[in-house]
Amino acid sequence: MKALVTVTHPRQDSLTHQVMQRFVEGLKKNNHEVDLLDLHHDGFNPVYTLEDERDWLNPSKVHTPEVRKEMNRILAADTLIFVFPLWQYSVPSMLKGYLDKVWNLGLFGKADGKKVLWICLTGGDQEHMSKYKREETLTHYLNVILAGYARMKESRVELLTDTLSESNQHIEGLLERAYQLGYEYA
Ligand SMILES: Cc1cc2nc3c(=O)[nH]c(=O)nc-3n(C[C@H](O)[C@H](O)[C@H](O)COP(=O)(O)O)c2cc1C
Repeated sequence: MKALVTVTHPRQDSLTHQVMQRFVEGLKKNNHEVDLLDLHHDGFNPVYTLEDERDWLNPSKVHTPEVRKEMNRILAADTLIFVFPLWQYSVPSMLKGYLDKVWNLGLFGKADGKKVLWICLTGGDQEHMSKYKREETLTHYLNVILAGYARMKESRVELLTDTLSESNQHIEGLLERAYQLGYEYA
């Protein structure tokens, strides 16, 4: 299976990157092929411009080369995985910009039948995430509202919680879980 793994974090030694690396190690161990998109490091421009706007009078309007390139990477993949920290109970603006531009109008039906996995690191612990339906709301938004609109075959969310913990054991546990998620990915 070919996996497009998209990581969002400005710092390459962040826990988010470590989680991505462990997840990718697991995927590769299980012989999956990986295409890695590091939105910050690869210089993705998340700003939506006039050029990105749909021209309702011209349905065949061509996207910018940057957006076409990213759409083609999605088309070439069987599955999409996003690794990102929870910021303001949502995806970071960089990832939102990517989704605005590349998942434009639900990818125009081009991603039908693909799978998506959202690996979200949260500062809050599981109890915090359960309160006020925080986890439920985020999961509904990603799985049903976003992936459903793009007609993905399957979408699931994995939360890695309590990421600011000072316990090395807890952090090691999160990294091990990331590896297992990759290794068991099917
Ligand atoms: C701008 C910003 C906003 C954040 N918002 C939230 C939030 O809404 N809920 C939460 O649980 N943690 C929040 N956090 C904590 C991050 O989720 C946490 O820093 C991250 O999971 C740790 O991974 P990292 O070391 O790779 O950054 C926020 C952190 C930052 C920097």
